[in-house]
Amino acid sequence: MDYLKIFTTLDSTNKEAQRLLAQGPIASGLTLLAEHQTDGRGQLGRPWMAAPDTHLAMSIIHKPVALSPAELPTLGMKVSLGIVRALRSFDSTLPLAIKWPNDIYLEDKKLCGILIENSLSGTTVQYSILGIGMNINESQFPPEIPNAISLLMATGRTYDIKEIALAIRDYILALLDHPSGWKKEYDHCVYGLDRKFDFITGGDVMEGMVKGVSLQGHLLLETSDQEIKSFASHEIKWVISV
Ligand code: BTN
Repeated sequence: MDYLKIFTTLDSTNKEAQRLLAQGPIASGLTLLAEHQTDGRGQLGRPWMAAPDTHLAMSIIHKPVALSPAELPTLGMKVSLGIVRALRSFDSTLPLAIKWPNDIYLEDKKLCGILIENSLSGTTVQYSILGIGMNINESQFPPEIPNAISLLMATGRTYDIKEIALAIRDYILALLDHPSGWKKEYDHCVYGLDRKFDFITGGDVMEGMVKGVSLQGHLLLETSDQEIKSFASHEIKWVISV
């Protein structure tokens, strides 16, 4: 069984995964990698643009044995942690962090975005498409995206994109199969811990100090009156641009 399909050009690896799933049975773990995406999709329906050959665009088809929709936030958290583990296997000194809910940051800049699309059947998750876009060998970004960084920009090295994709797939699948102890490690990776940021919630800007992420996938913030409040991803947004 061929677990990695590489495409020269695709509209979107997530869309191709959906087409394959609609055609017939697909083995869990099948991974699609595109050297160039012409219609990549990002979070909140935004487009995901990337230059050809320097960017990693991949989707892993995951068919959980038994996962309820309530457990989906932990799936996203494990995928993020799997990516961090994979990158650390190349360079353990990379200053990586998981920016809630679904980004990987390097210092204070965005290295990687994750788009997970799920199909539910009754009270179980039939499949999830784990879409990952990572800046690898870009030497610069246009001024419209000042908050982006690539592995090349951070380390001065170029990387083999296929090798990184395979490591990401292997680390994510291993973590999903054997998750014990993952939450403690995740907690150490949370971006901005004990730092104050501005957030938008209910149309207002509020300041909050990041205190962690709950098992329900909610962001925990200490507010100006020293209360810890928890927010689901649809309730709050960072003011930091991406
Ligand atoms: C984000 O907005 O931060 C999430 C971006 C996810 C982009 C990846 S690239 C591979 C996969 N295919 C897509 O069309 N999107 C995801």
